[in-house]
Amino acid sequence: MTPELMEAGARRLEARQQHAQLGKTESGGRQAGFSRIAKHGEVDVTHGRILYLEDVSVSFDGFKAINKLSLDIAPGELRCIIGPNGAGKTTLMDIITGKTRPDEGTVFFGSTIDLLRYTEPEIAQLGIGRKFQKPTVFEQLTVFENLELALKTNKGVKASMFFRLDSAKGDRLAEVLHTIHLADSVGAQAGNLSHGQKQWLEIGMLLMQDPKLLLLDEPVAGMTDEETERTAELFLSLKGKHSLMVVEHDMSFINTISDIVTVLCDGAVLAQGTLAQVQADERVIEVYLGR
Ligand SMILES: Nc1ncnc2c1ncn2[C@@H]1O[C@H](COP(=O)(O)OP(=O)(O)OP(=O)(O)O)[C@@H](O)[C@H]1O
Ligand SMILES: [Mg+2]
Repeated sequence: MTPELMEAGARRLEARQQHAQLGKTESGGRQAGFSRIAKHGEVDVTHGRILYLEDVSVSFDGFKAINKLSLDIAPGELRCIIGPNGAGKTTLMDIITGKTRPDEGTVFFGSTIDLLRYTEPEIAQLGIGRKFQKPTVFEQLTVFENLELALKTNKGVKASMFFRLDSAKGDRLAEVLHTIHLADSVGAQAGNLSHGQKQWLEIGMLLMQDPKLLLLDEPVAGMTDEETERTAELFLSLKGKHSLMVVEHDMSFINTISDIVTVLCDGAVLAQGTLAQVQADERVIEVYLGR
């Protein structure tokens, strides 16, 4: 990718300089954010990609878990990733979040941030949130305290000591509570929530940090049908405001939430398209969906 991206980067820099000379002001609002010129600390998505992987490979003891994988995700997109056990879906998330270093390949966040140069905590700070399969909320604390804590965790010890829930953060907390359908359980102890509610709370904790990209690994595993439906609604409401990558085996859930589905197999992309398209693909039927 690099020559193309470098060229694009140079063009962007030029555009930014012209922009500054003209003294133009940037418009606010999230939609506008997807196309405006990036400021320091922002993810540059002017080229239509929030995440970009090319020819990524990783081996474990000689076994290629990821094999020349290329993939990109548009800002605000909700991308579903499906594929058989061992296809490399979780490993893909490990690579994006810095948990696993690939042996080769390119991983960019926007067109300027080379994720391979950052550590796992730094990548979280950059705005990539990850939800593992098992909920990891603080069971002894209330829903409110869990969300409040999520605001502090990213800030370092000193900032946490002087942390106050100001009105902007209070508003954010109320908004997140509503989004995750837990407004009525704000004082409940997290340990007493249902499995589905714990999952939502953990998603809420990620949302408190306003991630640009959210990676969710098997989010509806173990949920009741009703919880699964509400999770689908939740994800659809996040789409557009955040970019999401969702790994799931539950096809009816995928059917409800998906636009583009990527099928992973043997560490590479086997097929990509709408769910109907990939479901009709003979190779996908062969390795994953069955007849
Ligand atoms: N840290 C590791 N060390 C050794 N092997 C690993 C490691 N991480 C993953 N693997 C192997 O890489 C392959 C891909 O695993 P991965 O967990 O990414 O699959 P998956 O698509 O998430 O599968 P599932 O649907 O079962 O969750 C598997 O064969 C797995 O055993
Ligand atoms: Mg997995």
